[in-house]
Amino acid sequence: MDSYIIESNKKKSRIPARLDFAQSGTGLILGLFMWVHMFLVGSIILGKGSFNFVAKTMELAFLSDTGHGFPIAVFFAVLTIFTLFIIHALLGVRKFPISWKQHQIIRDQMKMMKHTDTNLWYIQVVTGFIMFFAGSVHLYIMLTHPGSIDPYMSADRIVSGHMWPLYLILLICVELHGTIGLYRLCMKWGWFSGKDAKKSRQTLKKMKNKATIFFLTIGILALFVFIVIGIKHRDRVGEKYSNHIAAVEQVQDDQPIQGKDQDQEIKILQPAEAKHE
Ligand code: HEM
Repeated sequence: MDSYIIESNKKKSRIPARLDFAQSGTGLILGLFMWVHMFLVGSIILGKGSFNFVAKTMELAFLSDTGHGFPIAVFFAVLTIFTLFIIHALLGVRKFPISWKQHQIIRDQMKMMKHTDTNLWYIQVVTGFIMFFAGSVHLYIMLTHPGSIDPYMSADRIVSGHMWPLYLILLICVELHGTIGLYRLCMKWGWFSGKDAKKSRQTLKKMKNKATIFFLTIGILALFVFIVIGIKHRDRVGEKYSNHIAAVEQVQDDQPIQGKDQDQEIKILQPAEAKHE
């Protein structure tokens, strides 16, 4: 009783509210970042050239005379996202059930209530836990190899580097976690809540489902395209796309010089290179 009186006389701490706010803020930035990230990675669906253009732009290649860009720019971008990712995960851990007993109580209550938003919260806890490991692996690789983002090197990493199972798991988790997170943020802070709260909730939930399907589709298509490129490129693992393009251009430039006497050879070379591309 004494302790209860002491507790209730204490000034209420604002820390939990601030931590909640920080979690929402980092979650919002990461959620929106993931949408942009999926469009950028999804550029591979349009072709190797498109993905290469995106990767080079991220490296600020347009600012360098050589066109090679500055992978350090990618390093700092990854560092920022990784820091936000860790902060967001640490803040999220506060909400995790810390014992099997607590977990069972939550599961029992979920079964009893049959409340979809509580089920969504549970999906977020599970996907968040998986992402803590899978996301860290991906971000660490990006942090330590910022200059290795290009159609061939990325595809090699996915196929020959055996990253595809991790990406597949991460993709499913991140799309569920991200869209549920953004939906829950809207509910929590009352964004887009019209006059009819029930109707707004239903509309938001439909939008959430559509966003999950949309980004999952882009992600799976992109992963599929990377896998096809990676399989075809298995015998040249480590070759950069830009080096390959330079080699092709070199062959094409050399052709008129050799061409006069070696018409035959060029005719053979061209289709082979075209097929290669
Ligand atoms: C600035 C930080 C990031 C950069 C530069 C980045 C870059 C990339 C790149 C280049 C790929 C293509 C595959 C590869 O080259 O290995 C990729 C794929 C992927 N990334 Fe990231 N990423 C970042 C942050 C994140 C975060 C925070 C997550 C989620 C936790 C994430 C999840 C994924 C997933 C799921 C894929 C596979 C997508 C697919 O193939 O469809 N990434 N990322």
